[in-house]
Amino acid sequence: MEFHTKYGPWAFVTGASSGLGKCYAKQLAAKGLNLLLLARRGDRLEILAEEIRDKHQVEVRCMAMDLLADDALSQIQSATAELEIGLLVNNAGFGFKGGFLTADASLLRDMVRLNCELPTLLCHLLLPAMMERGRGGVINLASAASFQPTPYMSVYGATKGYDLLLSEALSVEMKSAGVDLIAVCPGTTNTEFHAVAGGVATFGGMADPDDVVSQSLHLLGRKISFLHGLRNKLLCFPNRLVPRSWVAAISGKVIQASTKETRGFQVDRGGCGDS
Ligand SMILES: NC(=O)c1ccc[n+]([C@@H]2O[C@H](COP(=O)([O-])OP(=O)(O)OC[C@H]3O[C@@H](n4cnc5c(N)ncnc54)[C@H](OP(=O)(O)O)[C@@H]3O)[C@@H](O)[C@H]2O)c1
Repeated sequence: MEFHTKYGPWAFVTGASSGLGKCYAKQLAAKGLNLLLLARRGDRLEILAEEIRDKHQVEVRCMAMDLLADDALSQIQSATAELEIGLLVNNAGFGFKGGFLTADASLLRDMVRLNCELPTLLCHLLLPAMMERGRGGVINLASAASFQPTPYMSVYGATKGYDLLLSEALSVEMKSAGVDLIAVCPGTTNTEFHAVAGGVATFGGMADPDDVVSQSLHLLGRKISFLHGLRNKLLCFPNRLVPRSWVAAISGKVIQASTKETRGFQVDRGGCGDS
């Protein structure tokens, strides 16, 4: 079955105003899917929507909203009620680099809500219609951080471990209904993520978000999780062979040694034509 037949006619992409979400929007439009795009920065969404409409013969709708707003889910429920959403991309998320106690409690709560609660509830909202149709897909953004404890980005890594395990578990539950889920696990990728998180782990450069997205779209329906890049695979594989206490300690040292502060300045914004 062709991609747009299996996962169309509409894709819902959260966090589409930059980085990986923006790349998903562009690549899904190129595959013929109509788009519902969500992020807080509506001006950016409108510019992206215009660009996509000009280039591809697809419909694009924008939702400028904060996923952490109390009425976020009911707003999404109304906006999606009349659309046949065949693909959900749970992409919006953020991280914090630094010691656990240096982060505000409210920031940690927001991170857990945005990275874990919202993707869970969006799956719960949109999967029933896909199951009824007997086709559809969900892409959940996890991380290379999902595979081990990540001291000095402890809560972020834990949220991404949750995303990986939830997605892999649901992929089994949904398989017989013909709905595909994949947990996408990028390593350090060239987006605004690092400027928001306040630090970037710099060992060996950053991946191109376009490449992460195109590989993940190819693997949807073929794999239940996807760790991008050979270097990340080599870094994560030994986790299976040594005691958990070693994994946690080594991970902390690697993160501390490789992290450069980005608080106060912007890192390069890559991806899908950004300059
Ligand atoms: N870049 C990496 O190295 C990397 C590695 C592993 C995993 N990831 C994961 O990839 C996903 C995408 O991140 P990215 O790298 O593309 O970072 P990004 O460029 O910072 O994009 C994050 C997106 O999430 C949106 N967002 C943030 N808070 C939101 C909120 N409260 N409500 C609605 N939208 C919100 C942002 O839009 P607005 O600010 O306009 O709302 C933006 O569009 C995240 O889940 C991240 O954890 C990234």
